[in-house]
Amino acid sequence: MKTSILMVCLGNICRSPLAEGILKAKTLHKNIFVDSAGTGGYHIGELPDKRSIEIAKQNGIDITDQRCRQFKVADFDTFDCIYVMDNSNYRDVISLARNEADKNKVKLILNEIFPGENVDVPDPYYGGNRGFENVFKMLNEACDAIVDKSLN
Ligand code: 4NP
Repeated sequence: MKTSILMVCLGNICRSPLAEGILKAKTLHKNIFVDSAGTGGYHIGELPDKRSIEIAKQNGIDITDQRCRQFKVADFDTFDCIYVMDNSNYRDVISLARNEADKNKVKLILNEIFPGENVDVPDPYYGGNRGFENVFKMLNEACDAIVDKSLN
């Protein structure tokens, strides 16, 4: 069965599009479906933030095929695993879960590299480019861990 992973943040324009692009790049030859969504609906249909597009591009990843969409309850059925970027996203997604099986799919992405620490991927939206570099680095490490632990 094809593994499917959803990356979730608030806006679906900064962090989760990077997480989607990075994991896709690491799993090109694997039977895995990766997507991303936002808990908020502020940017539906938009391209990722230009700073996310730029940091991805600097690392050889093109994320300009992505368009923002909002998380929906049906995503619990579509995806095996839902990685959220921060604790606020976690609460928002968990609040939409219909049962324990839905809840068990939701994980903080940085727990893949800092198990049990519940660390947030900081929201870089109001910061400068360094914030995006930092986010890219964290997500790159987390995606390496996802590939090593779950997908090999
Ligand atoms: P993201 O960042 O959750 O990493 O996509 C944000 C982007 C936009 C907004 C908030 C966070 N916003 O409020 O518009």
